[in-house]
Amino acid sequence: MASSAWRGSDVGGGSHRRRLIGALAVLIALAVPTSAQAFERPSPGAPGLGDRLFPLLGNGGYDVQHYDLDLRYATSAPSQGIDGTVTLLAVATQSLSRLNLDFSGDSVGKVTVNGLPAAFTRDSGELVITPRLPLLKGLPFVVQVQHYTAHPIASDPNDLLGAPFFITPDGSATAGQPAGTHAFLPSNDHPRDKASYTIRFDVPAGEAAYGNGVLVHKSTSGGRTHYVYLQRQPMATELIQLAVGRYQEIGRGVHGGIPIRDAVSPSLAGLLADKLPTEIDHLEWMKARVGEYPFDIYGSLVVDAELGFALETQTLSLYDRLWFDGTFGGQGIWEPTMVHELAHMWFGDSVAPYSWDDLWLNEGHATWYQFTFAAERDELEENTGIADFTDLMQVIYQLGDIWRIEDGPVGRPLSPEAAQLFSIQVYYGGALVLYALRQQIGDAAFQRLERAWVTRFRDDVASTQDFIALASRVSGQNLTKFLNDWVYGTKTPPMPGHPDWTVIPTGDAAARTFAAPQLLSLRRRS
Ligand code: ARG
Ligand code: ZN
Repeated sequence: MASSAWRGSDVGGGSHRRRLIGALAVLIALAVPTSAQAFERPSPGAPGLGDRLFPLLGNGGYDVQHYDLDLRYATSAPSQGIDGTVTLLAVATQSLSRLNLDFSGDSVGKVTVNGLPAAFTRDSGELVITPRLPLLKGLPFVVQVQHYTAHPIASDPNDLLGAPFFITPDGSATAGQPAGTHAFLPSNDHPRDKASYTIRFDVPAGEAAYGNGVLVHKSTSGGRTHYVYLQRQPMATELIQLAVGRYQEIGRGVHGGIPIRDAVSPSLAGLLADKLPTEIDHLEWMKARVGEYPFDIYGSLVVDAELGFALETQTLSLYDRLWFDGTFGGQGIWEPTMVHELAHMWFGDSVAPYSWDDLWLNEGHATWYQFTFAAERDELEENTGIADFTDLMQVIYQLGDIWRIEDGPVGRPLSPEAAQLFSIQVYYGGALVLYALRQQIGDAAFQRLERAWVTRFRDDVASTQDFIALASRVSGQNLTKFLNDWVYGTKTPPMPGHPDWTVIPTGDAAARTFAAPQLLSLRRRS
């Protein structure tokens, strides 16, 4: 559901009218094929969306509305792979003679388009599909990839993006961000194309299975257990969670209408018993700041593995053991990290990035709430190495020019490698952009902006320019130059309200070693 096409230039309001007009347009398109549709010469869809960091991620010419996954795990071995069938309901945005999905898994059994067998070839990460009949612009179509296979691999904390489908002592789970989902799911693997999901699991009887959204069916027969999850709200492919194994479910009741339940490795149940329930308070804390929780359910998935990161998989955040066993630190580490992942449900999940350059909008906001929570709990020093919020901002400010050189400006990471895409610059530097903005527009306007952002773009996709436009509108100031300089400039701009703040010159190694040790390096290599 690539919403950009449906987004008017008006910010806020008018969404019902737009939806109505959109619905009418679809009806007219279906009923009266115009010359543009009927006669646009079918051509191949582009193999990528042209994302600056991942040019081949996603594909051109169509917009997925819904994914229906049917996943069979034959045995309960943790290394057991998927034998899956995925059915995509999409709408053509050009007349297509050919279209691509992203897929880098093991094998593909068969492909059909609108029920007819379709020819396909594989070309590195692309599954190239030639339907028997061309697909006409504006019309819906169904692609089914039958009996594809993919297998999980061991995770390696030194290679953060290396195992999007990984083995745990208890089974397997997924961490697709940013470009890994198509290793285990043929898909239009870019966050710009969100869709709703039905996720069906067929696993050995008694085995647990968790997908995004709510469980709508569970039954056991013939030695197999079947689960069906429904993720109603649109979701980016990178946020899928498929966790299958001996995971133990812990219900935590319903809070403000939102059921909370966790899934944990049985070996960690004791360690986590008094830690995970804090997510109930975190949910209240976040709601008090930005408003209604955007999904139908929430919880934590904690695996007994060493991933080296946590991940905001939609409705079920993923953590490894290291967050909770003392490796990364104590309560001042794991609790603000839980707040960070929860904050992503609004910032990154409900409002997904238009391109991967916009990742700072996810990480900057999640880090902002992580720091704010930690500061309130007097845990900022354990969390970051610096006890006072403003002092922390000043140290990040001092390192601004050095980070802009080493990792790139917050909105233009130098490379898609984990170290630069998920650099301290994108996280801490992203939070500093929000601090600068708050200094510029004041706390009241900043709080209104945060709420307006997650309301206006709920279930949608938004870019840095969307953020700048909304910030300008909410504050009544034209922030175009101000924010573009902060997000894309190679020099750190002056900090409003702190004319005395200075940055360390990029060549000054000695001054840097003076400032940097105070700041604990990111424990999450993310
Ligand atoms: N977005 C995650 C977080 O902030 C980081 C994930 C990095 N690792 C990965 N495999 N994508 O918590
Ligand atoms: Zn994050």
